[in-house]
Amino acid sequence: MAKVVFENVYKSFKKQVQEESNRNIEHKSEILDSDSSSLTNQAVNVLRNINLEVKDGEFMVLVGPSGCGKSTLLRLLAGLEELTGGNVYIGDRIVNKIPPKARDIAMVFQNYALYPHLNVYDNIAFGLRRSEIGETESNLVSDWLEPALVGLTRSLPRSMRYISSREREIRKRVRYVASLLQIESLLSRLPKELSGGQKQRVALGRAIARNPQVFLMDEPLSNLDAKLRTETRAQIVQLQKQLGITTIYVTHDQTEAMTMGDRIAVMKGGEIQQIASPLEIYNQPANRFVAEFIGSPPMNFLPVELTKPLTLINPHFRLTLPEYWGEILHNQRNNKFLLGIRPQYFFLSPESSHISVKVNLVEALGSETYIKGTLSNDSDTSITASLSPDTIVSLGESINLSINLDKIHLFDANTQVGWAMPILR
Ligand SMILES: Nc1ncnc2c1ncn2[C@@H]1O[C@H](COP(=O)(O)OP(=O)(O)OP(=O)(O)O)[C@@H](O)[C@H]1O
Ligand SMILES: [Mg+2]
Repeated sequence: MAKVVFENVYKSFKKQVQEESNRNIEHKSEILDSDSSSLTNQAVNVLRNINLEVKDGEFMVLVGPSGCGKSTLLRLLAGLEELTGGNVYIGDRIVNKIPPKARDIAMVFQNYALYPHLNVYDNIAFGLRRSEIGETESNLVSDWLEPALVGLTRSLPRSMRYISSREREIRKRVRYVASLLQIESLLSRLPKELSGGQKQRVALGRAIARNPQVFLMDEPLSNLDAKLRTETRAQIVQLQKQLGITTIYVTHDQTEAMTMGDRIAVMKGGEIQQIASPLEIYNQPANRFVAEFIGSPPMNFLPVELTKPLTLINPHFRLTLPEYWGEILHNQRNNKFLLGIRPQYFFLSPESSHISVKVNLVEALGSETYIKGTLSNDSDTSITASLSPDTIVSLGESINLSINLDKIHLFDANTQVGWAMPILR
């Protein structure tokens, strides 16, 4: 087990681009005939200034939209891509130039491939047989006698065959992993005889069996249905805690991020936006992007102006901020903000309310009811509110909503940097 550190990591890929003079060619044949010297190599920056320390035994989730560089970061750590700049450490060792095999990392991908002709046992044992696990010191028995005994007894019934000490070690490890993942009864099945969730656990088993220093998981659950996904999610977390192996888990699913990670690193466009515990990310998002990405349904954003201390004005409503905002906003030069409110922090209040919302859609989920609409006097400003399930609202109706003022966020309209009520420790 070991910590993992990314230090000022940069990654760019070379991309061939057609020069300006050839851009507007109408026919493909002309492109093919065109002078290849007009193709130039351009560097595309995919990761910029990544600084991230994953502690020994920690479960770190990387989350962000498609194309933000999550897989590339994992591949750099696994040694499958070369760094453009910076350093990667596993433990105290810089691994920039260390080949993948020597990094002691196990990776589970979204499209985990099991060997179709091998049963579950052999699929899990496969990596172990190729590694140094259970290798005994060179001596007469292991060099000469054991191979001879294995060869001589190969044609006997299975129970009478000689099993080498190395294979016994592998068997112990496979059985241990199978019991952890509760797949002992599946060991003799072929992959085609397994459900999606079972295959997933075998793929995990193969990674766990190697007992690596670091686990990398790249969207390993995305092929599973919702129920299996939730179950396997919990299982992975439990296993990770049990084994204590430093884990980096990539997902673009914010629920997975919130429920699995000790900490979450939110990424966008090749940069890390915030690294913090799930609840800190939720309650204290560093900027508008993080606030919008984490939380479902997403946070509402309304343009406001700070006219005098503690008073926010929008053409259609006015709010008085709680006292502690005075200190938070003390040094702000800009007075234009976005007011952020999560749907859960609206409530119905017929008499005294903050805003009036015209309802366009009602989604009753049973546990809560989502109201979607716009400000009554401003059809361009959308609002989503999550109200109690017994709320009865009709389409087209205007309803009065109040805001839990201790749960609001403000984002600088220019920089998008965010603030919220300080966490009381
Ligand atoms: N070998 C490559 N050559 C050129 N560009 C690449 C290469 N690999 C990745 N990219 C680009 O780098 C960016 C980041 O890709 P990456 O696969 O890391 O994204 P991701 O966050 O894992 O996305 P997803 O959630 O869709 O898997 C993308 O814009 C992608 O097109
Ligand atoms: Mg990816």
